[in-house]
Amino acid sequence: MGQKVQGTEDLYGSYMRAWQHMQDVARELFGAYGFDMIETPAIEQVDTFVHGIGESTDVVRKEMFRVVSGALFGDLLEAGTEAGLKPRQRMAMRPEGTAGVVRAAVENNLVPQGAAPAKLWYAEAMFRGERPQKGRLRQFHQVGVEWLGASDPASDAECIIMLMEFFKRLGFDPSKLHLYINSMGDGECRPAYRDKVRAFILDHRDEMCEDCLERAEINPLRAFDCKNPHCHEVMAGAPLVNDHLCGDCAEHYAAVKRYLDEAGVSYTEDPTLVRGLDYYTRTVFEVEVEGAGVGAIGGGGRYDGLMELEGGKPTPGIGFAVGFERIALALASQGVELATPEPACVYVAGTGAEERDAVFSATLALRQAGVRTEADYQGRSLKSQFKQADKLHATLCVVLGPDEVAAGIATIRDMDTHEQVQVPMDKLAEEIVSRLR
Ligand code: HAM
Repeated sequence: MGQKVQGTEDLYGSYMRAWQHMQDVARELFGAYGFDMIETPAIEQVDTFVHGIGESTDVVRKEMFRVVSGALFGDLLEAGTEAGLKPRQRMAMRPEGTAGVVRAAVENNLVPQGAAPAKLWYAEAMFRGERPQKGRLRQFHQVGVEWLGASDPASDAECIIMLMEFFKRLGFDPSKLHLYINSMGDGECRPAYRDKVRAFILDHRDEMCEDCLERAEINPLRAFDCKNPHCHEVMAGAPLVNDHLCGDCAEHYAAVKRYLDEAGVSYTEDPTLVRGLDYYTRTVFEVEVEGAGVGAIGGGGRYDGLMELEGGKPTPGIGFAVGFERIALALASQGVELATPEPACVYVAGTGAEERDAVFSATLALRQAGVRTEADYQGRSLKSQFKQADKLHATLCVVLGPDEVAAGIATIRDMDTHEQVQVPMDKLAEEIVSRLR
């Protein structure tokens, strides 16, 4: 028997309906904010991620699933290095959505000079080669938004407000949601801050782990996220970014907070929130659910340099993504089911083989009227057809026996009250639609 790859899941039944429900909620809410849907390929050239997410990030260095065509695979193994491959031959499964959307925006000129911002959202599978555990998968699903071309701090605040409203609509108790925000500065102020953090780590080199010493060289801010409790303790004394923001970044951050206050969105400032992707500038944020034990259910931030890194003109951007699987787990921990109920269904039952054609026509007519309709395809007895109808949670059952067929009528049975009425066959669909309403 074949087995799924560790850290991947099959989506079906109520779990699939939950994923679709999340997309429906997103479509309605994000639509009201002016976002349109985009879908980019699940595989991109490796460089799209290296340029955007950053060469030194864990996501790029350790977690990206690389893709090589079968024809090149043997050569690659023999050579033992990908150095001989052309950039277009080096591909990866997308570990996140932002880099691909920004690549698409540049390639398709979605934000022409002087045009209004592009507001895009997506619902897609992402792939990260992480060690699978609760809420951490190798293939997972994100709903995300990218707002390209807006630099106004109101757009940062609106993104966050929309995110918190999204969680509310999915059924979270807002008092259990914790929003953490920070500003990471920009090209003006961050380099000097990064140097200060590097110097701090090197001053404490005897107390820090090997990974952090490596981080000091390539990406010192990542040391704030080190899982080693001792490094965590040491980093509590490190210089904080809030004290090192330039005037413009400080002003931007203050305005974002002012808008959030005005909208009544509560947040906690966390000056150690640095996020795991290199493209962020200024505002960053993450949301956790109290007691859920699944880590962040969503996060995002501003990335004013990313369009340029992907080969476009300087264009500001901001966005976020949430993880479907973590949200489902977090909601379950609050006793809330994300799935929508199964849609109402009608079952057409026939008493015997002679009524099969009448069942066929009635089923066809109901489906054409948009009614979710089921029937028997296995020659079951009437009793077991009723059982089947119950199992499918059919609200109404249409019964066709020899008398009904001879008289050109159908019996409609309410599965809850067992009340029965008879209607002419040519009025069946109309009657069912009005009863379902
Ligand atoms: P991220 O924080 O890496 O951000 O991922 C966003 C969300 O995806 C996380 O909060 C989590 O819910 C979910 N997630 C991440 N990794 C896994 C995993 N291995 N298993 C299950 N769920 C996971 C981004 O991906 C950015 N692209 C967000 C963004 C959009 N920033 C700006 N625009």
